[in-house]
Amino acid sequence: MNLPSNPIGIFDSGVGGLSVLREIRSLMPNEHIIYFGDQGHVPYGPRSMEQIQNFSEGITNFLLQHNAKIIVVACNTASAAALKYLREKFPDVQFVGMEPAVKPAAEKTQTKKVGVLATPATFQGALYASVVERFASDVEIFQNTCSGLVNQIEAGELDSEKTKKILDDALLPMLEKNIDTVVLGCTHYPFVIPLIEKIVGEKVRVIDPAPAVAKQVERLLEARGLRNSSNENGEVVFFTSGDVKSAENVVSKLINEKVEIKSVIWKNDFEIVSSID
Ligand code: DGL
Repeated sequence: MNLPSNPIGIFDSGVGGLSVLREIRSLMPNEHIIYFGDQGHVPYGPRSMEQIQNFSEGITNFLLQHNAKIIVVACNTASAAALKYLREKFPDVQFVGMEPAVKPAAEKTQTKKVGVLATPATFQGALYASVVERFASDVEIFQNTCSGLVNQIEAGELDSEKTKKILDDALLPMLEKNIDTVVLGCTHYPFVIPLIEKIVGEKVRVIDPAPAVAKQVERLLEARGLRNSSNENGEVVFFTSGDVKSAENVVSKLINEKVEIKSVIWKNDFEIVSSID
């Protein structure tokens, strides 16, 4: 199989980054995309910073070998643990990362009470602490790691009883504290927005940073003269380090798009050896 030329490279621990991919697709449908879902290692949330840095470095090398012109770290956890590290290791590469959208939430909240849903590694990272300190000093923040939710979404369980319970347990206590805004600080979570909205009701605003990230990617490509000039629809190829069949099942549930799925194998924590046709 031929891979698309000069693609945008996107990665996540699994399928979460597809919430960013779909925004990039709708903004720039003619761009080719190669996506890496590290489903052999998902979830990243409970892992050590060092291990997430190693995985992120291996994936970056892989995407660069396939000529990625920009790399979108479509994972809050990998951004928290490894974005700074990647920028130091690959000074010539343009990276776009995620950070919990605490700034827009702090600007919009009326009650001055905001809920943030993200993984343990994201909450522990310096990036999150600095965003809260800079933008939300006058806001009360309620955090929850939604333990198990990433795995539910990886399994395509967007509306099951277990998924609902995880979200009820996270959100109902926040509602009691009078939050009026919820920040989705993990790229998997936009896939359960319908369920979140059912729980919090229409008076609570749910913030998904993916559209803003897609715009940032567009701005950077334009500024560097890297936009694809063809008007044809771009191709999307999805590499998984997990099981191809399961990836096919879940991807078809999450996005409305024909995506070719290919398998890759890790040699160790920081080197990907093969991709099987
Ligand atoms: N999609 C992820 C994020 O944005 C990763 C979740 C995980 O693997 O724990 O944080």
